[in-house]
Amino acid sequence: VTAEKGGFEHFMLKEIHEQPKAYRDTMRGRIDESGKKVVLPELKLTPEQIKSINKVQIVACGTAYHAGLVGRNAIESLVRIPVETDVASEYRYRSPIVTPDTLVIVVSQSGETADTLAALREAQSHGAHVLAITNVVGSSIARDADDVIATLAGPEIAVASTKAYTSQLIAFYLLSLYLAEVRGTQTPEQITQIIAAMQALPEQLDSMLAKPEAIKAYAEQISKHEHLFFIGRGIDFAVAQEGSLKLKEISYIHSEAYAAGELKHGTLALIEDGIPVIALATQEDVLEKTVSNIKEVSARGADIMAITHEEHVVSLLKSVNQAFAIPKTLPLLTPALSVVPLQLLSYYASLARGNDVDKPRNLAKSVTVE
Ligand code: G6P
Repeated sequence: VTAEKGGFEHFMLKEIHEQPKAYRDTMRGRIDESGKKVVLPELKLTPEQIKSINKVQIVACGTAYHAGLVGRNAIESLVRIPVETDVASEYRYRSPIVTPDTLVIVVSQSGETADTLAALREAQSHGAHVLAITNVVGSSIARDADDVIATLAGPEIAVASTKAYTSQLIAFYLLSLYLAEVRGTQTPEQITQIIAAMQALPEQLDSMLAKPEAIKAYAEQISKHEHLFFIGRGIDFAVAQEGSLKLKEISYIHSEAYAAGELKHGTLALIEDGIPVIALATQEDVLEKTVSNIKEVSARGADIMAITHEEHVVSLLKSVNQAFAIPKTLPLLTPALSVVPLQLLSYYASLARGNDVDKPRNLAKSVTVE
């Protein structure tokens, strides 16, 4: 069984460590040799269709939905098309406004999630083109979708999704770059710069995975708590939501992810002495604002751990108890790195609590009921 797990104690840890390879595999063949262009030969979507898209809807469940939140940011900022995100179990029941010019993107590791499949059919019934981002090419969702971008993460066994999520991020970045090129919303130089930064991600990830000690020690510390908060702004908030879900799934610690600036409208009432708060502070454009939110919780006695870049560690340590630095990439791509300490945190917290890491209670890898 350990052989199956490649020498790791759990599938989850093995899959966390497979992420650099999953990044490379998902990019392979999709970036031309010059490194200047994304090519997606598998797409049936024509350049004419791409030019007529006036709205994108991203629909998924669980962790795949959280990848969609990052995908929204990538598409809106690189392609400037409005994007809506929905959890699949809600999508059909809000009578979504879908036309043949809507591109609907469904995201699913397994390709078998019943709610996501139902959302796909709903979108198709309104004439939308449905593109699936999935890890299983023979799945129901892959079969029924009009287009498929396969994430090449390899089989994911642990119930808590890790490498599938990050590969979905890579797929969204590739798709956004492709759409941007067709619609002319980014210059060739901008596209080349983003591609180069993406190609550096696997090595940056390797460097993080080589040093898990600080996160492990922090995980042991939070494993004694019953409640904690994640805060962040923009895509840091999207990653915070994934970090919170991961932690709940396998450690059973109650946690909430909050948009940092929204805390003061209610949730701040829950911050009391000693409560752990994990603050994601990787986005330069909102850093100052995030720091003022960090100070709000610090003033109420929260025990804060910040995830940030090396150059901000010293100044942040004035308001937080600990800081963990992640390698520097483009702001847009940060989630592909910043989520990794949160995956490790959940893993080690679950381990410290003696839980069944790979098979958490009440959860299934793939949910085929609505
Ligand atoms: C289940 C799994 C989650 C997963 C969700 C969506 O709830 O436990 O980890 O994110 O389904 O699965 P999918 O296969 O559609 O990505």
